[in-house]
Amino acid sequence: MIRVMSDFEIRTLRTDEHRAASDLFRGSLHVPPSDDADWERAARAYQPGGTIGAFDPDLIGTARSFDAELTVPGGARLPMAGVTGVGVRADRTRRGVLRALMTTQLEDFAARGVVFANLLASEAVIYGRFGYGLAARNRTYGVDRHRARLRPDLPSSGRVELLDVDAAVAELPGVYERIPHRPGMMTRPEVVWRQYENHLRRSTDPVRAVVHHGPDGPDGFATYVVSGLHQHPWTKTLDVGDMFAATPAAFAGLWRFLLGVDLVDRVVAGARAMDEPIELLLADHRQSAVDRIGDDHWVRIVDVPRALAARAYGPGEPVVVEVTDPVLPGNAGRYRVTAGGAERTDAPAALTLDAATLAMAYFGTWRPSALAAAGRIVVRDAAAAEAADTLFATRQPAWSGTYF
Ligand SMILES: CC(C)(COP(=O)(O)OP(=O)(O)OC[C@H]1O[C@@H](n2cnc3c(N)ncnc32)[C@H](O)[C@@H]1OP(=O)(O)O)[C@@H](O)C(=O)NCCC(=O)NCCS
Repeated sequence: MIRVMSDFEIRTLRTDEHRAASDLFRGSLHVPPSDDADWERAARAYQPGGTIGAFDPDLIGTARSFDAELTVPGGARLPMAGVTGVGVRADRTRRGVLRALMTTQLEDFAARGVVFANLLASEAVIYGRFGYGLAARNRTYGVDRHRARLRPDLPSSGRVELLDVDAAVAELPGVYERIPHRPGMMTRPEVVWRQYENHLRRSTDPVRAVVHHGPDGPDGFATYVVSGLHQHPWTKTLDVGDMFAATPAAFAGLWRFLLGVDLVDRVVAGARAMDEPIELLLADHRQSAVDRIGDDHWVRIVDVPRALAARAYGPGEPVVVEVTDPVLPGNAGRYRVTAGGAERTDAPAALTLDAATLAMAYFGTWRPSALAAAGRIVVRDAAAAEAADTLFATRQPAWSGTYF
């Protein structure tokens, strides 16, 4: 792939150029380059052919992607590209390099049949212009380990096993496969697990991993780091990095374990699903508190007709929505959304919105009437906004739980 701009050109990087892209990206985040040992592992997180670079003739910007599948409301899994490693050299910013990288990448995704692109944004103001919308939110909460008690009547079953890093690397992918997907969750391809492995192996504070074994085998896992051991007076925090449970019993079992880890004052669970029921597990719900609500994944709907046709809808009256999309104009047009599905139509539109706003509504995170009130949806028929609320509503809040 090659795209020639007036001041630079964009092309797919060869494998032997990935390290330079990694150094550039890390530099853009003010992080030092990987040393040789780190890079040997980090290189395996690069999907061959998945990284593009801008050259003038030096490498001045880069963006990486990998292929996976994303679960949409209703349970269908569709092709997605995870976008990461985006950076432009500090002396070449604000001259359109990112715009060219994003456009090239999205056109490539569209040509390859990718339906969604997902990313985690360093800053909230960057990606909306390319059609990415904040498709899910998450919450970070803390639990006072000394005062929190699980409800005594909470059913207890299963056992928790502590794994060393080698065992975690070998076993966690299999446990993840057994976790039911809610909307917003993705499959984790090999490159994501390799990145995960780097995190497990490279952390200065050791990363611990535990697996919950239920009646039918492994049904949940968590990883955590305990920090604060070198400060006086000690206030030691156990930070949960990753936690998935296939059943409520596995979720309770993991929390029973986490609240029992010795020499810990506070357990913090970061970027969790908005509806995770920690309060309901505790005898005194005030011993858990939300530290912050944050951005979960940003999603770009690359193939609007396919995405709209794939999700399940609530029992609302049909609504015709018009989508505008200057970056991927093939998506532009009107769609009739009904309780039974969605397809293109020539009928007049009651609601008009851009691709980023569609992504915000699509996963049920933002009600169309709230988006309309904020001026993100143009409403021609007030009843349609209400009908769209019912059509796009979801049973569970979207959440990814995978960070890349
Ligand atoms: C964010 C970053 C990639 C932008 O690259 P860039 O080449 O300067 O972006 P462009 O020149 O193509 O800008 C495209 C548009 O985005 C805007 N923009 C880009 N970065 C922005 C930022 N950080 N804040 C606000 N606006 C920004 C530009 O003003 C421009 O707006 P316009 O379309 O109205 O003209 C670059 O600043 C960078 O590497 N930042 C540090 C690393 C980082 O945050 N990476 C993203 C990781 S998710």
